[in-house]
Amino acid sequence: MAKHQSLIVVDDDQAMREMLSVLFRKEGYAVREAASADEALELVRDTEFDLVLSDIKMPGKSGIQMVGELRTIRPETPVVLMTAFGSIDSAVEAMQAGALDYITKPFEPEAVLLTLERALERRALEQENRRLRRAVDRTSQFGELIGESPAMRDIFALVRRVAHNRSNVLITGESGTGKEVVARTIHYHGNRAEKPLVPINCSAIPEGLLESELFGHVRGAFTGAHTSKRGLFEDARGGTLFLDEIGDLPLSLQGKLLRALQDREIRPVGGNKAIPADVRIIAATNQNLRKAMESGRFREDLYYRLNVIPIEIPPLRERPEDIPPLVQAFVERHSDNGRGVSPAAMQRLIHAEWKGNARELENTIERALALSDSKEIQAEDLPLELPDPASSLGSGRVLIRSAALRKLSLREIEDLYIDEILESTGGNKVQAAKVLGIDRKTLYRRAERTAAETMRATGAAIGGARG
Ligand SMILES: Nc1ncnc2c1ncn2[C@@H]1O[C@H](COP(=O)(O)OP(=O)(O)OP(=O)(O)O)[C@@H](O)[C@H]1O
Ligand SMILES: [Mg+2]
Repeated sequence: MAKHQSLIVVDDDQAMREMLSVLFRKEGYAVREAASADEALELVRDTEFDLVLSDIKMPGKSGIQMVGELRTIRPETPVVLMTAFGSIDSAVEAMQAGALDYITKPFEPEAVLLTLERALERRALEQENRRLRRAVDRTSQFGELIGESPAMRDIFALVRRVAHNRSNVLITGESGTGKEVVARTIHYHGNRAEKPLVPINCSAIPEGLLESELFGHVRGAFTGAHTSKRGLFEDARGGTLFLDEIGDLPLSLQGKLLRALQDREIRPVGGNKAIPADVRIIAATNQNLRKAMESGRFREDLYYRLNVIPIEIPPLRERPEDIPPLVQAFVERHSDNGRGVSPAAMQRLIHAEWKGNARELENTIERALALSDSKEIQAEDLPLELPDPASSLGSGRVLIRSAALRKLSLREIEDLYIDEILESTGGNKVQAAKVLGIDRKTLYRRAERTAAETMRATGAAIGGARG
């Protein structure tokens, strides 16, 4: 059987190395030799090998240490270690360090070949499993949309269901949560996919131009209108009009848009002939339209007309399950040579705040890929403003969360915090006031009140016990 598989033999004993190399080459393996762990690590950094066979006891790094380091560079490369006869300890240690198998010295050539074959078979099996798992994971993708969180899966299902009708859709979510991606996915998975998807950013076009932009104008409609011009409604005929930042649509136009949606026809500026408008409307905003309605900045009737199918995308920090698949997709999008992210770096990414949501995550990945040339993005390649999971900010969130679970009032949290700071300054109120950012008198008042309350509370408890 032709093998064509590549392996490295690591041993400081030259005779042993050569003996094994000859044996393996005769079996059709491509063999490289390394006289030390560092030499072997150097080799795997450059090229991927199918297997590493290494002695444990060597000057410099041991085989066990090498396995550890190899795991960070090439987590999928299997290692078989050679242990001295009778040394059970190092056999156990070898397996614990992550070696796939071990063989005790001295050994027969057949035995070492068999061990090797078994290890390679297992690796092939694992690769196959990974491939299958990845194929299953494809369900974490719907068109361009990526996500594994329950929220995102619900959105997949909703998008799939509504893609084929022409009900208006209103997508809401913070900046960078993927509103435009959702809009595109709806369009390209529906029966309008062959027709145009026309996006317009309502906040980017001056109020005076917006009407003619949307509905078109006839020649002479206003100064400078030397020719007539089609509007975006007509450009999108049969397809989808994506009204981005709909919250910024000026009130004057909200009425006109409502008319167009109700009558399913438009009137170009300066014209008196109505033109039928067969478009599906998808609107998006990162504003709170309910608040905008309350303050009179957004028409209620238009809101209900648009909000036939509401899609709300939660912020990324509320769906950390989506971070790993997004990271993988962004790495693929911004590099072309199979680069990745180290487990430690992934942990950092999962625990970061992501005020800018997926867009910020994407920018972070793109920058890290550009600034480092290692195969895997390391935790150090990520900007420092990402809170470390163990940092005060991270645990601060945990504290707040537990306070929320206990349903503490803001006042109670403040009191607890004031107490803590006072304790950390050894009771020094001047210092504590500085840390808390309040003036000293306020702190005195609060501290007195807290003390009085504490006394009352304990007094009551004692009283209760007595009574
Ligand atoms: N679920 C997702 N799957 C794949 N890519 C995503 C997803 N969410 C966001 N992105 C990517 O993040 C970036 C920002 O997404 P998008 O432009 O859709 O956000 P947005 O909600 O429209 O933001 P804004 O409110 O600022 O306009 C894009 O590059 C997009 O490809
Ligand atoms: Mg957008």
